[in-house]
Amino acid sequence: MSDEKQVEWYEDDKMWEIMEPVLFTEARIAHTSNEVDAIKSLCKIQPDDAILDLCCGVGRHSLEFARRGHKVVGVDRTKLYLERAKKAAKDEKLNIEFVLDDMRTFYRKKSFDVVLSMFTSFSYFDDHEEQMLVLRNIYASLRAGGRFILESMGKEILARIFNRHSWSEWPHGFMLEEREAIDNWSKMHNKWIFIQKDGAVRRWDVVHWIYSGAEIKDMLESVGFSDVKVFGGSDGRAYDNEALRLVVIATK
Ligand SMILES: C[S@@+](CC[C@H](N)C(=O)[O-])C[C@H]1O[C@@H](n2cnc3c(N)ncnc32)[C@H](O)[C@@H]1O
Repeated sequence: MSDEKQVEWYEDDKMWEIMEPVLFTEARIAHTSNEVDAIKSLCKIQPDDAILDLCCGVGRHSLEFARRGHKVVGVDRTKLYLERAKKAAKDEKLNIEFVLDDMRTFYRKKSFDVVLSMFTSFSYFDDHEEQMLVLRNIYASLRAGGRFILESMGKEILARIFNRHSWSEWPHGFMLEEREAIDNWSKMHNKWIFIQKDGAVRRWDVVHWIYSGAEIKDMLESVGFSDVKVFGGSDGRAYDNEALRLVVIATK
């Protein structure tokens, strides 16, 4: 038997490389300015607020907040994405600090007024304690009165729109997805198969936690957050049977 440790899906650089065009489409990048408008209004962001963009990816929110004059730090574990983000910042002459780090280890004590976790960037770690560690790091990085915004897919929404199989075509290949709710609906098991145009086939088992509005609220309160508000979209709609996304704002 091999002693080699299996790389977790979220630590697989090849996966993030192949998923880059799927995750960061032109339409999604173009929509970022609207998202930032919504975040500003939901989090009551002030002109001097310092922003931490946790799991910043290619830096679309970091760049937009910096364009609007905010001091921004973007953190991500994927080198390729940070290179993209740094180049974009340099091209626009924006002063943004990009840090290659893991959300389980990164924190800067009382340094930020707002922490962002956008586009389903939380919930990856198998061990619940690691999820809580990320929340404690976020809490530690915020100044008193600071806000944390988490934007993800809620369990109730997934149950309502559940689709076991889907496939999609991309410029570099075809993506097949199969989904299964596991561990009594506490996690989603996504089987991703990507067939590249050159015929190469890649497979990943993407397993992550899925939280209900009430579960995530309890988790945030248990690390010390207060005034935890749960919305069904970044436009501030209710988290009810018509919710589109799970958006949570919590205050330190
Ligand atoms: C779905 S993308 C979202 C990116 C960005 N927030 C956005 O809205 O465009 C998730 C990001 O999480 C990063 N990531 C995954 N695991 C991580 C970890 N353990 N620590 C830090 N970043 C991580 C990935 O590299 C990826 O950029």
